[in-house]
Amino acid sequence: MEYQEIIGRKKEILSRQAKPIPEDALARERELFFARNRRSLEIFEEAKSLIPGGVEHNLSQNKPFPLAMDRAKGWRVWDVDGNEYVDYLMSGAPIILGHGFEALDLKITEIIRDKGPATGLTSEYELLAAREIIAHMPGVEMVRFLQSGTEADMAAIRIARAFTGRQKIIKIGGSYHGWSDQMVYSLHIPGTASLNSRGIPDEFYTHLVDVPPNDFDALEKAFEDNKDNVAGIMVEPIGGESGAHPVHPDWNLRIRELCDRYGALLIFDEVVTGFRLDMGGAQKYFDIKPDLTVLGKIIAHGYPSAGAVGGRRDVMSVCAGGLGEKIYIGGTLAANPISTAACYYALKYMVQHDAVRKASEYAERLTKALNALFSTRGDLGFFVYNFGSIMHYVTTSFFSVDLSAPDAFTQIMTRKQIADDYQVVTMAHGLCTLAGTRMYSCMQHDDEALNKTLEIWEYVLSLIPVN
Ligand SMILES: Cc1ncc(COP(=O)(O)O)c(C=O)c1O
Repeated sequence: MEYQEIIGRKKEILSRQAKPIPEDALARERELFFARNRRSLEIFEEAKSLIPGGVEHNLSQNKPFPLAMDRAKGWRVWDVDGNEYVDYLMSGAPIILGHGFEALDLKITEIIRDKGPATGLTSEYELLAAREIIAHMPGVEMVRFLQSGTEADMAAIRIARAFTGRQKIIKIGGSYHGWSDQMVYSLHIPGTASLNSRGIPDEFYTHLVDVPPNDFDALEKAFEDNKDNVAGIMVEPIGGESGAHPVHPDWNLRIRELCDRYGALLIFDEVVTGFRLDMGGAQKYFDIKPDLTVLGKIIAHGYPSAGAVGGRRDVMSVCAGGLGEKIYIGGTLAANPISTAACYYALKYMVQHDAVRKASEYAERLTKALNALFSTRGDLGFFVYNFGSIMHYVTTSFFSVDLSAPDAFTQIMTRKQIADDYQVVTMAHGLCTLAGTRMYSCMQHDDEALNKTLEIWEYVLSLIPVN
């Protein structure tokens, strides 16, 4: 779906009242949810006394309570009560070969058994993994491994500042670049500034410049106002929240041009798009070369310690040198044999099995099929769009509420509540998605998964009255 159509359809949804599931039907669905998930509820009740809030994984369904999972295989996950789900969370994006991909798991368990998990010294897998990443990513000539996307984003910012000798970093509203002090700003919904920044002093944002997405004038002004002091601009190349705020077709190119004009570095945060949108990431997909690339998640395909920053050789060289020359980056378990071997083998298997193409083709089919189903309920305006295997489904469009509206916060809360209720139903019937708005496919999703997904959505639609 083209950018203009996505924006237009979101606006149309926002111009109408969102339609809730009627109370009696919702009560029945909640009852079903509780009845199916007794063990999950017990685990949650106990977790509340041990773990603040009782949950640490915020990407999925946490209302009325979070479900505890038992195992996963291919496109399926099973919870501790034995219920099966069509999984589109895919662990939050890293899984593209499918859960429990045997060849990969065998390699990793062999390494653990035969060699041990870590020595704190160099292993050959670092070289193999680095070579593999560099071979695929057009903008990466050198790479440094870290332990998460958050850390890799922090490192990219430090590298950009050290290389340019400048301070300002431009961030686009609504995008997510991990939870470091400097980047928790204007999260989820553009313009929300420090709404999520409890515990972070205001001074941490002194050198952060927040620009609304697709606002070309504000973008240019940000560079102009901070002339000679913009170290870099960090973007999610398909738009904030992995494309929940999709980019205008000219957006990335204009950013590249402005970086070149003002001597700033372009940082692509490819934590989700890298090796998912394309083996060469969004940079290959859009044919725009960033100066720095941030990678995470998928480079260890679900194994822990997944993060890396890569880029131009001259830029990355600030990570090397003697005392007082090189920038400080650390991580006791960074670049450990398990995560670097997982990276090397996962990328190899992705190529061997043509995983990106297969996952994207499935996403295209599902997007079309869901849109055909949703079109039978024009009164709701629901729709789906995708960037390869990254799909967004828009029901109440709470992410796109205009913050300047006088009732903006009430609208966001009401619309979010209604979308959450839809998600209670989808989850109670066996569909696991990300935050009730996003789906990732893997190369193993098939007709059975597609038909189950359609059946469940058909049922949700049947619960929402036409008038
Ligand atoms: C675009 C993007 N950047 C950075 C991160 C942070 O990665 P991590 O959760 O590994 O710290 C995420 C996580 O979802 C992300 O989506």
